Amino acid sequence: MQLVVRNARLRGRSGTFDLAVDGGIIRKVSKSLAQRGEEELDAHGNLVVPPFMDMHFHLDSALAYGDPRFNKSGTLLEGIEIWADKKRKISEDEIHGRAVKMLKLMLANGTQVLRTNADTTEPKQRPLRALLGVKEEFKDLMDVQVTAFPQDGIMTDPRNQEFLEKSVELGADNVGMIPHHEFTREDGVRSIEFAFDLAQKYGKDIDGHVDETDDDQSRFLEVVAAQSIKRHYEGRVTAGHATAMGSYNDAYAAKLYRILRRAGVTIVVNPLINITIQGRFDSYPKRRGMARVKELLEWGVNVALGHDCVMDPWYPLGKGDMMQALFMGVHVGQLTGYRELANSFDLITTNPAKALRMERRYGVEAGKPANLVVLEAKSEIQALARLAPPLYVVRRGKVIVRRTPSVTELIGPRGTERLDLEELMQTGKAS
Ligand code: FE2
Repeated sequence: MQLVVRNARLRGRSGTFDLAVDGGIIRKVSKSLAQRGEEELDAHGNLVVPPFMDMHFHLDSALAYGDPRFNKSGTLLEGIEIWADKKRKISEDEIHGRAVKMLKLMLANGTQVLRTNADTTEPKQRPLRALLGVKEEFKDLMDVQVTAFPQDGIMTDPRNQEFLEKSVELGADNVGMIPHHEFTREDGVRSIEFAFDLAQKYGKDIDGHVDETDDDQSRFLEVVAAQSIKRHYEGRVTAGHATAMGSYNDAYAAKLYRILRRAGVTIVVNPLINITIQGRFDSYPKRRGMARVKELLEWGVNVALGHDCVMDPWYPLGKGDMMQALFMGVHVGQLTGYRELANSFDLITTNPAKALRMERRYGVEAGKPANLVVLEAKSEIQALARLAPPLYVVRRGKVIVRRTPSVTELIGPRGTERLDLEELMQTGKAS
């Protein structure tokens, strides 16, 4: 065996298991394995999960915080202005350098599947070219999809339509859109039709920014769902942000859940950034800026999470850690019931796998690729409470990230005591 992982706790199962890996594939999962591996890894009863997936990111702007200037107001609109200035003198090399750093951070935090946007309204397609290069460079470590994202709109300038098509010809994986950012409602609808036409012409999936606003009159999600049904694109469409859903009336929201479910549209929420940039036109009470995750899940709509940004013109914080995004998501969405918290891991694992139609090659089960994350926690809830980075990350049976836990000491009246932070956070069998 190439690798044997021992004493692994698995989601939804009691006790610990040993995993045998050979040829990059999980061959066996059992209570106790006699076989030895060329490499042996003891999980010490910690939770072993499949890699995290980040379903919505902007790799072209990541880690550009402060360049060419800091966002003084912290608003979305100032972020767009700063990015517009940055785009005028951006180079492929510079984007490449930041993107490589960002992917390493994501790998260290357990992400191995990433859907990133590339801004196609940059006339030379430098963001797209740079990100397609990075995708190729990292293909042994991470599955990256690049979405052609028309940041400044599709209908706002006829050239943007050409740029979008050009970017698909250059190799973008998915077609994006931003209908709420178009000049009029009618242009917004046309932009959705344009994106679908393009996606159908080139056989691509749709991955849009839809209704990222607090305007309760922004209702493009219904158009996206209707187009998905009419064009038989069920299961091939994701709608990112969808924050306006937090402002819709309940009757309208109930209609929307039904058509989203029928259309097989995945809603991707980005709680870290949207809790900071939505509600900016409110005094008090202030809106939370997130789609109705709890209700969408209850209605059987697929929901996944994105990090969206890390230290860029829009979001000044973050480290590429999907556990942080989930931590914020369960707070904003009040997913704090025991089962809700334990199941919330689906939002960064199995639900995105479903959206990307990767289920058959994703999961800690015999016959699937040995892509694994060993967390420093015994349960999902403990992992969320601690937010510790993974101890190990495995890709196709090879350890690609290894972390040595740091030492924390309490210097008290009776001397120096070495603290086991995990032990201190044990609350009983439930957690
Ligand atoms: Fe976004």
